[in-house]
Amino acid sequence: MAALSIRALSKRYANLEVLKGIDLDIESGEFTVLVGPSGCGKSTLLNIVAGLDHPSAGTVEIGGRVVNDVAPKDRDIAMVFQSYALYPSMTVRQNITFGMECRRVAKAEQEKAVANVAKLLQIEPLLGRKPSQLSGGQRQRVAMGRALVRNPLLFLFDEPLSNLDAKLRVEMRMEIKRLHQRIGATIVYVTHDQIEAMTMATRIAVMHQGSVQQFADPDTVYRYPANLFVARFMGSPPMNTIPARLEAASDGPVVVVGAGRPDEVRLRLRGYDAAAPFVGREVVFGIRPECIAEGSRTFSSDAPVRVEAPVELVEPTGAETMVLLRLGGEPAMARISPDIRPAPGTSAAFALDTRRICLFDPETERLIA
Ligand SMILES: Nc1ncnc2c1ncn2[C@@H]1O[C@H](COP(=O)(O)OP(=O)(O)OP(=O)(O)O)[C@@H](O)[C@H]1O
Ligand SMILES: [Mg+2]
Repeated sequence: MAALSIRALSKRYANLEVLKGIDLDIESGEFTVLVGPSGCGKSTLLNIVAGLDHPSAGTVEIGGRVVNDVAPKDRDIAMVFQSYALYPSMTVRQNITFGMECRRVAKAEQEKAVANVAKLLQIEPLLGRKPSQLSGGQRQRVAMGRALVRNPLLFLFDEPLSNLDAKLRVEMRMEIKRLHQRIGATIVYVTHDQIEAMTMATRIAVMHQGSVQQFADPDTVYRYPANLFVARFMGSPPMNTIPARLEAASDGPVVVVGAGRPDEVRLRLRGYDAAAPFVGREVVFGIRPECIAEGSRTFSSDAPVRVEAPVELVEPTGAETMVLLRLGGEPAMARISPDIRPAPGTSAAFALDTRRICLFDPETERLIA
């Protein structure tokens, strides 16, 4: 049984259509991340699941029960918001037990539940403090603790880390992931941060303008983005998407970038049979920056294609060097070894891993192969 099923869900505000027919099935124990740019409808969707907002059409099913007409408190969910919404006059302990107090849970049981989550979240020393005496990360853990004592069918998180500094975000990200691994809870987690999505999710729903563009595991989303939007949204820096032509050769299609130019680049593809109908046509050629490396690099199998290309910009980050180059006249980012610093304005040798490229239909923007 799916923990959460969303069927043909739409939401409009006056004549603004914010959610356009969302269908999602989330299994018990999954960590689903809803990711997409600001304004794409993530919070609206989560609020509708929580019952804080109503859909214009469609249904929400939690644990096999349609909950459209069920009040938020009766939906068996726990939600953590971006603003932790702790009660300022209560101690950490009181914040965590407040919900149980309301439900008249026995004191001994409350004590046990608090002890459990406090240990899990390492907030035992903080139980007597007020929220004003806590750091952002500590408040965040208290908010999480308040949700965890519930043991609900479904946890909903709306950008819970967005108020934290970069270092704490990474720490909390790992902590939440560990938490999921330990308790096996079903989590729907909203973020606009694609790194959070990639690192935490068992499946990612990429949203854009009120629709789900792709719903798949992180590796699939990264390797086979369903369309150009997903290709450009997931990954940092994003996938290079370059206009090209597909030509025929005796043993498979060839991608030609900058056709007819003196610096045209030709890439022979293997195992791209789905691209056959596009031979002789324009395509968009997608290649991740890490698939363009320094010329001496060998990739695990297959000989890479080696090209000489002009270098425009070089950005050393410490762990790697990012290079903006021109492939057949088109700009492309490469991720090369940190030890190599080609000089801007010169040409350098690059190796392209052609087993991992993507081809998109320029009209529909969908992945071809
Ligand atoms: N009460 C409302 N009335 C009218 N429009 C609204 C209302 N609430 C949200 N919207 C609009 O709905 C769209 C989706 O908003 P939503 O808050 O779901 O986006 P989001 O994906 O969570 O964005 P963010 O990443 O910025 O939090 C936005 O265009 C927003 O302006
Ligand atoms: Mg939001």
